[in-house]
Amino acid sequence: MAAASPIAVITGASSGIGAATARQLAAAGFRVVLTARRKDRIEALAAEITEAGHEATAYALDVTDRAAVDEFATAFRTLAVLVNNAGGALGADPVATGDPADWRQMYETNVIGTLNVTQALLPALTASGNGTVVILSSTAGLSTYEGGGGYVAAKHGEHVLAETLRLEIVGTPVRVIEVAPGMVKTEEFATTRFRGDAEKAAKVYAGVDAPLSADDVADTITWAITRPSHVNIDLLVVRPRAQASNSKVHRTV
Ligand SMILES: NC(=O)c1ccc[n+]([C@@H]2O[C@H](COP(=O)([O-])OP(=O)(O)OC[C@H]3O[C@@H](n4cnc5c(N)ncnc54)[C@H](OP(=O)(O)O)[C@@H]3O)[C@@H](O)[C@H]2O)c1
Repeated sequence: MAAASPIAVITGASSGIGAATARQLAAAGFRVVLTARRKDRIEALAAEITEAGHEATAYALDVTDRAAVDEFATAFRTLAVLVNNAGGALGADPVATGDPADWRQMYETNVIGTLNVTQALLPALTASGNGTVVILSSTAGLSTYEGGGGYVAAKHGEHVLAETLRLEIVGTPVRVIEVAPGMVKTEEFATTRFRGDAEKAAKVYAGVDAPLSADDVADTITWAITRPSHVNIDLLVVRPRAQASNSKVHRTV
């Protein structure tokens, strides 16, 4: 009898980087468990992956709801991979006028969401004898930019969570991989940030020759996960060639 495929849980799998990562990890031989709040989208993606001959299931989950996360975690005795991808930005206001509610929500989703799911699934990752936690932070987790305040603060929080967890669990069979992308053109990230204002969202990528795609980032995540288990890619920073820093972007317009 063939051994069961290792399981990978992906949060925020209903769009963008999370959906692309689910497709690529499934193709790499993982049984993928797709989670996000929008059940219809993850169910449709699970059906697409299954039709392509791979293994996928969907589970509706809000990462900020600790009771729901704990309930979800009871399904896993062992787990190979957790990709903490759910997150995003809200607003681009200066610190002087930013809405504290936006800051709170970004901290809740990016930091507490990652904390909730990681804490709940760490026992299963450890029990697997070879677990991997991936944390999708951002180059916003490594340095700041004007108008980034709340998002930058939250992503710095996620970066610190990854660095601290790696120190604390060394010696256990779980590695902690942080992937920090720069500018990625996904269908929803900028639209969510600007609350549906398509014009403002389009300006983020205006004149940039080839921002990263969700597939580019999924490729780096899948590469890092599929290294031999003793190899820990601590931090992988990936940007488009046209971007030299958070605020230094070459534009043709
Ligand atoms: N795009 C970029 O330029 C960029 C750059 C660096 C890092 N990142 C990071 O990469 C990750 C993915 O970004 P993306 O560009 O793919 O964005 P996206 O297309 O907006 O996807 C965000 C995902 O997070 C999920 N999500 C949001 N809040 C959630 C919650 N409370 N519970 C569960 N799921 C939640 C959303 O699903 P539901 O709405 O269905 O719940 C969605 O699937 C984020 O952490 C983002 O901060 C993005």
